[in-house]
Amino acid sequence: MSRPLRAEIKISALQHNLQQARQAAPDSNVIAVIKANAYGHGMSLVAHALNNADAFAVASIEEAINLRESGIHQPIILLEGFFDADDLLLLQAYSLEPVIHSSQQIEMLEQASFTYAFDVWLKIDTGMHRLGFAPEQTKQVYARLKECDAVETIHVMTHFSSADDQESLSTPYQISLFKRTLEEAGITSTTSLANSAGILGFPDSHADWVRPGIMLYGACPFVDTDIESLSLQPAMNLVSELISVRDVMRGESVGYGGEWTCPETMSVGVVACGYGDGYPRHAPEGTPVLVNGQRVPLIGRVSMDMITVDLRGCDATVGDTVQLWGDQLPADEIAHHAGTIAYELFCNIAPRVPRIEIK
Ligand SMILES: Cc1ncc(COP(=O)(O)O)c(C=O)c1O
Repeated sequence: MSRPLRAEIKISALQHNLQQARQAAPDSNVIAVIKANAYGHGMSLVAHALNNADAFAVASIEEAINLRESGIHQPIILLEGFFDADDLLLLQAYSLEPVIHSSQQIEMLEQASFTYAFDVWLKIDTGMHRLGFAPEQTKQVYARLKECDAVETIHVMTHFSSADDQESLSTPYQISLFKRTLEEAGITSTTSLANSAGILGFPDSHADWVRPGIMLYGACPFVDTDIESLSLQPAMNLVSELISVRDVMRGESVGYGGEWTCPETMSVGVVACGYGDGYPRHAPEGTPVLVNGQRVPLIGRVSMDMITVDLRGCDATVGDTVQLWGDQLPADEIAHHAGTIAYELFCNIAPRVPRIEIK
């Protein structure tokens, strides 16, 4: 029998969440963001589940090639573009669309000597200050791209720094700066601004293409909201089993460092899941774990392959089902306990955890 830990990926939840993005931005095309192995959910599985998305976005050429080779025909956008001139041959061979964010990339395109031309996504930095051209460079770089034989259509995009905070003034500022920049440069290309938080919180940002990521997986893009109020469904249940249940005597400690001491003789359960699987090592004592549908607290330190739970008041035995996060226990809540975000929990699920498609 295999180790019981698995990530169950619910196809219907992925499809429901894509539908929520479409409903929120009915006039926009949807680019499903499936980089980082579809936020840990399994890139090919997710891409095929979302086969009615209008396009997909990934971070690396390798991810894009895997996607093409798995039979995906929609446009594939490379969010970091390409890295050297040799990459252009791969872009051509696999029909990929790079984000263009640097003058080095434009120089490589200008020097490219092949006849095939691809669509590009010109990135303008409206305040994130990560990738992209300054607004005042827009007119000039756009004109240079227009002159490139290797460039077919130019889409223009930007990315929000603080859309997870609906009260922040940064997002309305970025939206208006983006629009003003294009107007002043006389550019009428198709555009893309919105990530999940933009889609659900800032209708002004919808434009021609939206780029949902986290909402597709059923976690919350806002700091102060929950998924129920956004009608999203968790796409991943991280589930395992109790592999040991035993009584530990009052005054004995549990786990590495002996940090947790039993206040009475009590039932302690061991779950097959640890930081080697992606469970956050910094999850503190008291982080909820669901045993047979009942919340019990984590006790002791998270080990590489196991965690320990307090089974007082819980009628549980070896082989009983445990949910670490999922439809009964929001990943956002576990992330909050561990001082991180659901994005990181999902991305950290280790390759050794099988992703099981639930139809
Ligand atoms: C450029 C870009 N667009 C869209 C997204 C999707 O963002 P989210 O997962 O917050 O929806 C990301 C994710 O990091 C991104 O880098």
